[in-house]
Amino acid sequence: MGTLGQIVFCSMITLIIIFGAAIILILALSFSGKLSEVSSNDVTPVANLGEDELLSCYLNSQVQPARFRDVSVTWEKKGLRDPVYRYLDGAPSLADQAPLFKGRTQLFPDALVAGNASLLLRSVRQSDAGEYTCSISSSGGSGKVKVQLRTAAFSVPIFKFTNGVLVAEAPRWFPEPRVTWVDFFGAVLNGSTSLVKNSAGIFQVVSRLQPINFSEIYICRIQNDLVTARSQETVTDSGVKGNTYFTFSAASSLLASTHLSIMTSVLCIYYLT
Ligand SMILES: *[C@@H]1O[C@H](CO)[C@@H](O)[C@H](O)[C@H]1NC(C)=O
Ligand SMILES: *[C@@H]1O[C@H](CO)[C@@H](O)[C@H](O)[C@H]1NC(C)=O
Ligand SMILES: *[C@@H]1O[C@H](CO)[C@@H](O)[C@H](O)[C@H]1NC(C)=O
Repeated sequence: MGTLGQIVFCSMITLIIIFGAAIILILALSFSGKLSEVSSNDVTPVANLGEDELLSCYLNSQVQPARFRDVSVTWEKKGLRDPVYRYLDGAPSLADQAPLFKGRTQLFPDALVAGNASLLLRSVRQSDAGEYTCSISSSGGSGKVKVQLRTAAFSVPIFKFTNGVLVAEAPRWFPEPRVTWVDFFGAVLNGSTSLVKNSAGIFQVVSRLQPINFSEIYICRIQNDLVTARSQETVTDSGVKGNTYFTFSAASSLLASTHLSIMTSVLCIYYLT
C-alpha cells in the first residue's frame, strides 16, 4: 500500500502523460489533415482534342461522407487573369469568367456538397493545355491542388487483312506519331506507314505490314510523346482479332521538378549527417 502522497504523485504523473498524449494526437491529426486536404485523382491528365475532360479536384476529409456548408471553389489557369470557373456562396459566379471558357465548363452540385470540385471541360482545344489550380474552401476544410493538362489527339486503330497485307488505320493522332511493328518476341518488323495531315493539323495514320503468318501475334505501337496505343493482333481465317490499350506519359516538367526536390532532400540529409 502506498502512502497518500505516493498515490497523488502517481495520479498526477498519469494525468500529465494522458494530457501529453492527447495533445500530440490532436496535433498529429490536424497536421495530417493540413497536408492532404485537397487532392486530384490525376494531376497530369492528357485530354483528347474535341472531347470532354474531367479535371479532378476534391477535399480529402476525415469525416466523409459529409455535407459541407459554405463551399467555395475557384479554378484558375496559369497566365489568365480571369478565373476559369468560380463558385461562391452556393452558386456559380461567372461574371468575370475568362472568355475562352464561357459555356464550356461546369461543376457537379451534388458532388460539390461532398467536397468534390472536379471541373468538366467540354470539347477540349489545344489552347486549353496548361497549369490549372483548383482552390476549395468550406466548413470541412480548404486547400488547393495543381493540375497540369496536356492535349493530344488519339484514336484506336482498326485492323484489316486484305491481299496478304495487315493494315492498321487510325483517323486522328496529334502530335505526329511514329508507328512500330514487332512480333511476339519483340523483333522489329518491316512495316510501312503513311501519315496524312488534315487542315486542323491532325494526322491520319495508315500502316501496312507484310508478309503475315496466320495465327501469329503481331504488335503495332502508335506513339508520340504523350500517348502510346499498343495493339496486339492475330490474323485468322475469320479475320483479324485483337485489342488495343492506351498509356499516357507523365508530364516531363513535373517529373523534372520532383527529381529536383528529391535530389535537394538527399543533399540536405547528406549535409545534416
Ligand atoms: C467527383 O465528381 C465527378 C462528377 O460527378 C465524378 O466523376 C468523380 O468520380 C468524383 N470524384 C471523386 C473523387 O469522388
Ligand atoms: C519492306 O517492305 C517493303 C514494302 O512494304 C518492301 O518493298 C521491302 O523490300 C521490305 N524490306 C525488307 C527488308 O523486307
Ligand atoms: C512467319 O513464318 C516464317 C516461316 O515459318 C518464319 O520464319 C517467320 O519468323 C514467321 N514470322 C513471324 C512474325 O512470326
